[in-house]
Amino acid sequence: MGDGTSPPYDRPVDVERRSVDEASSRRANGPDWDRYADEYQATHGPFLGDAGFVWGPEGLTEESAGILGDVRGRSVLEVGSGAGQCSRWVRTQGGHGFGVDLSHRQLQHSRRLDEQTGVAVPSVRATATALPFADDSFDVVFSSFGALQFVADLDDAVAETARVLRPGGRYAFSITHPTRWMFPDDPGEAGLTASQSYWDRTPYVEVDRATGEVAYVEHHRTLGDWVALLARHGFRLTDLLEPEWPEGHDRVWGGWSGLRGRWTPGTALFGADWDPR
Ligand SMILES: C[S@@+](CC[C@H](N)C(=O)[O-])C[C@H]1O[C@@H](n2cnc3c(N)ncnc32)[C@H](O)[C@@H]1O
Repeated sequence: MGDGTSPPYDRPVDVERRSVDEASSRRANGPDWDRYADEYQATHGPFLGDAGFVWGPEGLTEESAGILGDVRGRSVLEVGSGAGQCSRWVRTQGGHGFGVDLSHRQLQHSRRLDEQTGVAVPSVRATATALPFADDSFDVVFSSFGALQFVADLDDAVAETARVLRPGGRYAFSITHPTRWMFPDDPGEAGLTASQSYWDRTPYVEVDRATGEVAYVEHHRTLGDWVALLARHGFRLTDLLEPEWPEGHDRVWGGWSGLRGRWTPGTALFGADWDPR
């Protein structure tokens, strides 16, 4: 879209708004991330750091946010782990970090970085809505722009997170700030004028013009939707960070830029405790 995490296309697509179910979202987004992975890692890898933990384009690190708490000795799952940079940082802090991602190619990059850094993140190809782990396996689950906005059945994804978390576990995730949905995905002036309703949840869809197949999907929820979703699954929201654009940070990432970042938040970072009473 939308949010600058979306893969660019080397073939023509038509952009639409229409409802897309979970199976179609997955069928489109997995191969799409496979196609985009090389460029994503080449473009953003140096900013992310091979064993770095950044919550979003503003550059907020977990080291300074501390939203996961002390990860030492903890079992930590990253959903939508990509090349595993964040989980590799978790490992350097003494945590037991594991990754899950839908894209085979992203996981190949994760393996490459395992070898380059000597810090391996055991990772598996799976989807956020069907995590291949036993109940009560993890102390912490997180996503840094991973998976959630690509999922149609978000209740299933959060239910899965609750299932694999131990009682008292921690859940944190960053997403495109929901208010960004109103604006064109443009890092310049055009990206500062609202052009659609914040409350319109109809997914953003790219359709391959040659085949008519859905090629990419992003789903939108309002801030209120996210709060209600967490409450519904037994999470107690403790944090909602909206990182400000740092002075002197001039990196452009898709629709994120200093020009927009000085006026509107680009990232929302939620932190919650699982309190299943
Ligand atoms: C914007 S990238 C973020 C990756 C990593 N956290 C980072 O900061 O580079 C989004 C990731 O979510 C993954 N993803 C998309 N849909 C998913 C799903 N349903 N389940 C698991 N991962 C998914 C993509 O393959 C991609 O690697």
